[in-house]
Amino acid sequence: MSGARDATAHGAAAGARAGATGSSGRTVLEATGLSVAYGGNTALALERLEVREGEVVGVVGANGAGKSTLVNAIAGWSRGTPRVAGAVRLDGRELSSLPAHLRARAGLLLVPEGKLVFGEMTVDENLTLPGGVHVAPGRRYYDRESVFELFPRLRERRGHLGAQLSGGERQMLGIGRALMLGPRVLMLDEPSIGLAPRLVSTVLRTMRTLASDGLSVLLVEQNVRAAIEVVDRLVLLERGRVVLEGPAAEMRDDPRIAQAYLGTGHET
Ligand SMILES: Nc1ncnc2c1ncn2[C@@H]1O[C@H](COP(=O)(O)OP(=O)(O)O)[C@@H](O)[C@H]1O
Ligand SMILES: [Mg+2]
Repeated sequence: MSGARDATAHGAAAGARAGATGSSGRTVLEATGLSVAYGGNTALALERLEVREGEVVGVVGANGAGKSTLVNAIAGWSRGTPRVAGAVRLDGRELSSLPAHLRARAGLLLVPEGKLVFGEMTVDENLTLPGGVHVAPGRRYYDRESVFELFPRLRERRGHLGAQLSGGERQMLGIGRALMLGPRVLMLDEPSIGLAPRLVSTVLRTMRTLASDGLSVLLVEQNVRAAIEVVDRLVLLERGRVVLEGPAAEMRDDPRIAQAYLGTGHET
């Protein structure tokens, strides 16, 4: 268990740790009929994807398979001007009509590749939210101290500027910032990209800690080999469609997953 705080008790009560819940079976995030098209090209056509409470779901697939398109569509972000259709529900609440910042406030947070980090600010400053923490009652969030518990390396680097950090440290900082906003669902787009192998497992293993705090995680990874070690379920995307889905333990020996391994073998 990590040091996630319960917003009902607020951060001042440092002893008020949220209990480790793990997967409760309750659906937290549900996307149905989600489609994204650029002109006549369909980048994503998804029937249904769900992430349960305390569950880590991995989305894998080759370059261009539609992984970023998927998490962007869920988060309400878009690159260019695609046509987006479908429903996104968080704890049963329909969010599709909301812009990205309101989905984030509702608890749907996307960590893009290191982009949540301010290069001209120190680690400490990056982990300071202007105006303090405003998380809805009952939602867990992390304060700076609990982010340091999760990533001790960030404490060591607390006085360094964001721009001076390694790729791995930036990724940790981006995740830390997102956690301070009190996510229900944390989505990460290829957090392992460009990281040293040792850091890949450090960052990815953190997902298990977050899940045991009751968070739901949607993890996009090209590094199938690393992802399969930490996820509960794996979804394989090909050309914007789900071609395979199941418990990670059952997916290891699937030839189609093996093929995906080969596709990214040079990265591991
Ligand atoms: N801004 C855009 N304009 C046109 N096509 C795009 C745009 N962004 C992504 N695509 C297309 O959508 C498909 C999926 O891309 P993407 O989601 O980035 O894949 P992945 O993240 O799996 O590598 C690709 O065919 C890509 O060319
Ligand atoms: Mg991508």
